[in-house]
Amino acid sequence: MIERANDNKVIIFDTTLRDGEQTAGAGLTVEEKIRIARQLAKLKVDVIEAGFAGSSPGDFEAVKRIANEIQGPVVATLARGVASDIDAAGKALDGVKNSRIHTFISSSDVHLMHQMKKDRESIMAMAVDSVKRAKQYVEDVEFSPMDASRTEPEYLYAILEEVIEAGATTVNIPDTVGYSNPKEFGELIRSIKSKVSNIEQAVISVHCHNDLGMATANSLGAIEAGARQIEGCINGLGERAGNAALEEVIMALVTRKNYYNLQTGIDTKEIGPSSRLISSIFGFPIQYNKAVVGQNAFRHSSGIHQDGFLKEKSTFEIMESENVGWRGEALVLGKLSGRAGLRARLKELGYTLTDDQLNEVFVTFKELADNKREVTDMDLDALMSEQHRIADIKSRYEVKEINVVCGNLRVPKAEVTLLCPDGQERFYSSNGTGPVDAVCKAIDSIIDTEVELTEFSVSGVTEGIDSLGEVTIRIEHNGSIYSGRGSDKDIVVASAKAYVNAINRLILIGNQEKDITEVV
Ligand code: KIV
Ligand code: ZN
Repeated sequence: MIERANDNKVIIFDTTLRDGEQTAGAGLTVEEKIRIARQLAKLKVDVIEAGFAGSSPGDFEAVKRIANEIQGPVVATLARGVASDIDAAGKALDGVKNSRIHTFISSSDVHLMHQMKKDRESIMAMAVDSVKRAKQYVEDVEFSPMDASRTEPEYLYAILEEVIEAGATTVNIPDTVGYSNPKEFGELIRSIKSKVSNIEQAVISVHCHNDLGMATANSLGAIEAGARQIEGCINGLGERAGNAALEEVIMALVTRKNYYNLQTGIDTKEIGPSSRLISSIFGFPIQYNKAVVGQNAFRHSSGIHQDGFLKEKSTFEIMESENVGWRGEALVLGKLSGRAGLRARLKELGYTLTDDQLNEVFVTFKELADNKREVTDMDLDALMSEQHRIADIKSRYEVKEINVVCGNLRVPKAEVTLLCPDGQERFYSSNGTGPVDAVCKAIDSIIDTEVELTEFSVSGVTEGIDSLGEVTIRIEHNGSIYSGRGSDKDIVVASAKAYVNAINRLILIGNQEKDITEVV
């Protein structure tokens, strides 16, 4: 349990693995979640919401493993205000000292009337019962009245008072539908501080969604009013338009310390690595002009800006790029670099490899270096992501060989060989409307799946014609969306890798679909 925050510390609660995983088209394997949790621990977030233990066996396992394997942050799981969810949460966290149950129930009239079909009294009773039940498993209990910002204030104060009385140590105020604005939300927090008689016994937290693009501003407005825990996701992932982007809230507090006079325990140099890892695993590219972590965040384009920047950085830069672990295109290695040089650079970038892993990466590195004169840190990140994609999804399909013929006067044709989970290599040849279509059709025939390719995008890892191509794909199967990514110097091969990666993820994650459609 986190010591009662001193009034100058803001607790950073990361929900990338829970609300972030609710992003449409996201879906992670247990191994992927553990890799992200490890990085979040390096970032030194205070709380990791690892999932929703009661929603599926996959989430249960992920919460349990993260709680047992990750050192440092408190590990939390979400639970609806029902006994079965709270018991699943308690079981997943069994024996883990540093753990929290986060239980929630809707509190706004619109939710009560149309979704819950319950009156205020029964919701109040359920909220209190859930906190008391959660308390039987852990000391650290957080309660959220869902849709708090649209809840009738007097009822909100009453419910908060009751759950604190029942033992809640954190009360979280969600702006569930991103409806509020910074002034109004700040006033809500101030009124909670003055109207809830026992509020001093709990930490006030906020959880802001970004439907109107105000999640970061609303979180900061709440902090000014006295909230001392911020919930959000790296890269602003989350349900619909996402949650508050944690990197933005954190860097606002750091950069404007003169204004907020508050601190966090975050190691800001790990923001960039966290953002890139999460983007790569989720299969959601980071928008170029994204605050703090976008590729353009520290690039100066206009002549006047460049001139000023070269004379004195602070003329046009308010943060040091190194302080947020931003990665430029530094030339690091070339075709004459050896294993030791590669190992050393990867170590500096945060990848520690066994000899076998190094040998595997070295082969792809050499292929790349032969084709591309300059191998940058971003190229190395892409190579490592490709390695992890294969390692995380062991004993699934792997691309062995791709040959295509295409051109303006030819019918595009692809020959594909896959290494299959039974250890056999299988070959298929197919025509298509283009080379990528032909490759996907051949893969479909080998794997015997029926999926629809709904999104396909290619980007260069770095600039220039010799850049590694990175392909992001989304496929739809039985109404669910799965993403896949692949990188290679040849974009048709990268497309095949991305398509196979998406199908592997469908096979792994599709077996563990969540069942959280029942409200309570
Ligand atoms: O947005 C929301 O209200 C939530 C709660 C479960 C905290 O995600
Ligand atoms: Zn949410």
